[in-house]
Parts: sequence; structure tokens; C-alpha cells
Amino acid sequence: MQEPSTHAVRRGCANDSLGDLVKRGSVALHQLEKLTVMKNDKRISTHYLHGNLLSAIRAGLEKQGIQPENTSVEDLGPVDEFHIGGRAASIHFLDQLKISASQSILDIGCGLGGAARFAAKTYGAKITGIDLTSEYVEVGQRLCEWVGLADSITLQQGSALSLPFEDASFDGAFMMHVGMNIEDKHVLFSEVSRVLKSGAKFGIYDIMKANDEELIYPVPWATTHETSWVAEPKDYRVELEANGFVVAGENNRHDFAMDFFKRMMAATEAAGGPPPLGLHVLMQQTTAEKIRNMVANLAAGRISPIEMIAIKDA
Ligand SMILES: C[S@@+](CC[C@H](N)C(=O)[O-])C[C@H]1O[C@@H](n2cnc3c(N)ncnc32)[C@H](O)[C@@H]1O
Repeated sequence: MQEPSTHAVRRGCANDSLGDLVKRGSVALHQLEKLTVMKNDKRISTHYLHGNLLSAIRAGLEKQGIQPENTSVEDLGPVDEFHIGGRAASIHFLDQLKISASQSILDIGCGLGGAARFAAKTYGAKITGIDLTSEYVEVGQRLCEWVGLADSITLQQGSALSLPFEDASFDGAFMMHVGMNIEDKHVLFSEVSRVLKSGAKFGIYDIMKANDEELIYPVPWATTHETSWVAEPKDYRVELEANGFVVAGENNRHDFAMDFFKRMMAATEAAGGPPPLGLHVLMQQTTAEKIRNMVANLAAGRISPIEMIAIKDA
């Protein structure tokens, strides 16, 4: 097919109405936004990529004399709960969602699925997890098989900003330490709202901004500020309310977090190094620097882990 001459193109543009130009401009803007999201998704999943994670977890279990196929949700807790406070934080947080055995629950940004396995085992619910990082999803699915929970849990790769589920498909949802990687919280919460049934509870346990000082990087969720969008609790509340949620509860877990890191450091020092399985298995050689910066950011009051419980269409 012949290319149109520049003259013809110019004449076409000259004849365009203002409406056509605005339409073309907004299509171009939309495509640019999509490209930016894709670029960020890639940078985020690269940040979390380990490369050989299943073998590293297997090795950590074997060091403790545990055969992977005989492992338990409890054995995996130190490595598969990638948020401040690990399993103890999940127990405190998930208890507030009052999950029951008949429910179908979505874990947004599930990582390796540690909280999903804990919730499936404790409450008997069906859990679906979605995460951007393919390696976490693939390894997480194997861990579900190891602990005999593959029938109650499905983990799949995908983005929280474009959830691959029908409207009103879940009875509840939770998201732990994920919002820091997501710039557009409006789209995030509109997607969560869309896939939840009316009256469903949505729990958030995220690291939120607590003052205006710049964070020190790297931190566990980002190497630089370029993939970190830590927002204030009020920003979360505004976007939740704009998407049909009522915020029913909010807890600041700052003191719990400081205590958690104090204990973790004391235990590591007393043992002369970290245990066979821990978050260092995920973060590898950058662990010490990321944890040091996280604690410094917490201690300076720049960030705080916050639990928020919202109800759709309450
Ligand atoms: C700090 S980890 C927390 C994982 C898990 N929620 C937990 O607590 O163990 C953050 C996770 O969010 C995922 N993530 C970040 N942005 C995402 C997005 N737009 N959609 C889905 N997952 C995302 C990352 O791939 C990563 O697994």
C-alpha cells in the first residue's frame, strides 16, 4: 500500500476538527500511560526476581533436616511472608477480616503466597493470589503442592491494575505490602472494588508515608525512588472512598515493627548469622542494606506499616 504524501497528511490534519485532535491526543496519552505502566511492571518484577528461588528454599529446609515434600505452612513462614512482622503480622491483620470456610478470597500481590497458605489452612477458605513476579507465582504454586494446599489455592501471574477476574467474583480481599509499588491507587482500588461482592471486606497492610522526608533507598520493595510510591493513609482513604469503600478501621503498627526488627537483629547476632530460612533468602546480598534503611526510615518517622480495613458498599 502506498504511504499518503506529507501534503495529504498535512491537509488531513488541517481539516480535522478540534474534537478529532483532542481524541487523537488522548489516545496518544493513553498509550503513553500504558507504556509507562508496562515499563514500571518490568522494573518491579526485575527487582523481585531471584533466579533460583525454589532451590534456595529447598536448601534452607534441608539445612534444618526437613524434606520439602514433608514441610508445613509453619516451616515456610520465615521465608514466604514478605512483609514487616512476618507470620505474626499476618495473624493480627487477617483475623480482622473474619474469613470463613465458605468464602472465596483474593490475595493481591500475593508474592510467594505465604499469607494465602496461612489463610487457606486457618480459615478453610478458597484463596486466589495474583502477582506481577512470575518466579514468585511459580515457586509459590510448588510450595502449595508441598504443603498439600494446591486444591484450595490458585496463584497466577498478573497485575493488580488489570485484574483478570469477573465483576463481583470474591467475598473478600487482602493486600500486604504491595501498594508501595503502585503509583495509581485509584485504578488499583477501582479494580479491587469491581471484583468484590457488595459488603465484602478488603484488608490492606502497607507501608505508608508518615512525614515529608525523602526515604533512604534501597528498601525491600524498591532499589530507588523510581518504583516506590509510598502514600499517606489519607491518600488511601480518599481513593478507597472514591471507589465505593467505607474505611472501618485503621491501625498504626509502628511500635510492633520496631520491636520486630529489634528482636530479629538480636536473634541474628546471638546465632552468629541468619537462620536457614528468612527474608535474606529472597533479598540475598542486598538484605542487610535494605533492612538497615527500612529501620532507619521507620525510626525517623518517615514511614509506618498501617493496617486498613475497608468494606465495599457498606
Ligand atoms: C513486598 S512483596 C509482598 C508479597 C506478599 N504480599 C507478602 O506479604 O508476602 C510485594 C509484592 O507485590 C507484587 N506487586 C507489585 N506490584 C504489583 C502489581 N501491580 N500487581 C501485582 N503484584 C504486584 C510484587 O511482585 C511482590 O511480589
